[in-house]
Amino acid sequence: MSAYQIKTLEDLQTWRKDLSAQNKTISFVPTMGALHNGHLSLVKEGFKHADNVIASIFVNPTQFAPGEDFESYPRTIEDDIKKLENLGVQAVWLPNTDDIYPDGVQSDIYIEGVSEPLDGEFRPHFFGGVATVVARLFRLVSPDVALFGEKDFQQLQVIKKMVREQSIPIKIIGVPIERDEHGLALSSRNVYLNDEEYKIAIQLNKVLKNMADGHLNEIAAIDKLLEIGFDEIDYCTARNSKTLGTENPDRVFAAVWLNKGLGKTRLIDNIKMK
Ligand code: PAJ
Repeated sequence: MSAYQIKTLEDLQTWRKDLSAQNKTISFVPTMGALHNGHLSLVKEGFKHADNVIASIFVNPTQFAPGEDFESYPRTIEDDIKKLENLGVQAVWLPNTDDIYPDGVQSDIYIEGVSEPLDGEFRPHFFGGVATVVARLFRLVSPDVALFGEKDFQQLQVIKKMVREQSIPIKIIGVPIERDEHGLALSSRNVYLNDEEYKIAIQLNKVLKNMADGHLNEIAAIDKLLEIGFDEIDYCTARNSKTLGTENPDRVFAAVWLNKGLGKTRLIDNIKMK
């Protein structure tokens, strides 16, 4: 089945009004493209919650800092559309930068608390950019339900808080992490890994599992990651999954760097504690 490709805000509005007139419900899956089975698991879950699924593909400039990989971020739009169509997605929205940022590319939402530690500390621009773009996408699509992966667990918590604070009436659903056969969390950025880096990368979830099972403490886990060959560890720490603070930890979170190829690659992962 072919999906309706929405390329203008007018088309989006017409599509949205038609569905409202038919009393149809909508699940929304926002993405930056370069789709893999992790993204597709959100789409599959989306069908369980509404009559229609719409996915957006937009590489959001405000969540990249200068010097990050905005320019080189993988863009595979034709393949992405095919993958979404194969799952029966009814619409794919491909916004332009002007559709989302008519008055200039800048963030205007800041979520206190959950956006501050971990990735908020190491990528200070990141969650402002994510909250800004997701709020705008939400207002334009106005879905009933939106789906986000637990791969980006902190992002999921930031978005849950953002819809509460901004009184956006959309139900947010978290979807478990999709992994490859070696346990590596799928990510669009995994294409950056060369063979040597991949062999190191697949150890990350094993170290986190050991930590989640109580066999490694934070210091031992960081030592282990460095010994395995990761170049830098932004964090590897047990946190509370709601607050992202250190009290009552129930999940382990890590962000690590690999730099054995042409460029640096940052990987994130998280696992629920036993
Ligand atoms: P992107 O990295 O393309 O991810 C889109 C969605 O797919 C996010 O909700 C992410 O958590 C989910 N996802 C990615 N890898 C996954 C995996 N291995 N298993 C399960 N879900 C996975 O996250 C973003 O884009 C952007 O920040 C966005 C929310 C679109 C805002 O620009």
